[in-house]
Amino acid sequence: EKGGFEHFMLKEIYEQPDAISDTYRGRMLPDKGIIRMAGVDDNIERISNARRILIVACGTSWHAGLVAEYIFEDFARIPVEVEYASEFRYRNPVISENDVVIAISQSGETADTMAAIKLAKEKGAFVFGVCNVVGSSISRETHAGAYTHAGPEIGVASTKAFTTQITVLTLMALKLAKHKGTISTSDFQFYLQEMERIPEKVKLALNSDEHIQKVADIYKEATNCLYLGRGYNFPVALEGALKLKEISYIHAEGYPAAEMKHGPIALIDEQMPVVVIATKKGHYEKVVSNIQEIKSRKGKIIAVVTDGDIEVRELADHIIEVPETIESLTPLLTTIPLQLLSYHIAVMLGKNVDQPRNLAKSVTVE
Ligand code: M6R
Repeated sequence: EKGGFEHFMLKEIYEQPDAISDTYRGRMLPDKGIIRMAGVDDNIERISNARRILIVACGTSWHAGLVAEYIFEDFARIPVEVEYASEFRYRNPVISENDVVIAISQSGETADTMAAIKLAKEKGAFVFGVCNVVGSSISRETHAGAYTHAGPEIGVASTKAFTTQITVLTLMALKLAKHKGTISTSDFQFYLQEMERIPEKVKLALNSDEHIQKVADIYKEATNCLYLGRGYNFPVALEGALKLKEISYIHAEGYPAAEMKHGPIALIDEQMPVVVIATKKGHYEKVVSNIQEIKSRKGKIIAVVTDGDIEVRELADHIIEVPETIESLTPLLTTIPLQLLSYHIAVMLGKNVDQPRNLAKSVTVE
């Protein structure tokens, strides 16, 4: 059942090229220049005229929501807010019929996300679900939705659910952008073509597995780890840190790289591994100067870079390469080495990777 892999998590990491193409297949028609998503098509006016989009989710799904915030604002020019479902539901949120709520949940059973949906519906908002499990409670409670088609995710640590959530949300944002006219036909076409190349590029990113294993071996005894990224890759830094925490029990924090100087930089010394996402597009030069700041305080740098990078290679202690793509799609590639890094560290430490202590696959308690 693990298809020759030692753990479900590793199997699911390796399934991502197929999971991503399963998610866009039949929806994205680059030849015709269209994206078909029934749940969006049926409600296109309501969604594209939203005063704002509010995304509610927990954990990894919340990280996918943060990536979506950048994509929706960038492409569709709709204001987006992302909230932990648990916070949203317990305050007195300002929300009305003019808002569209997107609830993201792999399992479709997360209690806090479900409660947030019910509250949003009571206030008259239109609620769109992005779930993986077909027929799940959340998929039934929402007004419309789009499934991620990632296939069953058994490992408690979410992997393919995350990348397929980003895939669905990217398609949705592009579709809305096209409808609203906030994207040119040629850009739209170009993004679809780039999306079609992602599965192949994820495969290339997976090729670094052995190299990542060596890096994991060097840092497995660390007691702390920082993850930094900017822009589209800031949520990926958060996700990388969550992956390491939940399966290896090593304390890790994700930060937007520019926030370092406002506090966390005090933590840096020769004992501190810092994973920096430094891909070419997206504030590259700024990230390079963040790396220099860490280096001068003797932190150890593990950098995720674009294939062929020269500048960061000289500064970093280790580099992990991913193929080049457009900025908004980089999270689909930069996430891969971070998943593998946590996986290998956890295995080396003898942890129960698929079922980490204190955690459940779906959190049905509030
Ligand atoms: O099923 P959901 O997407 O609603 O689950 C949300 C979180 O519980 C989940 O992403 C959790 O954070 C994962 N264990 C992260 O790997």
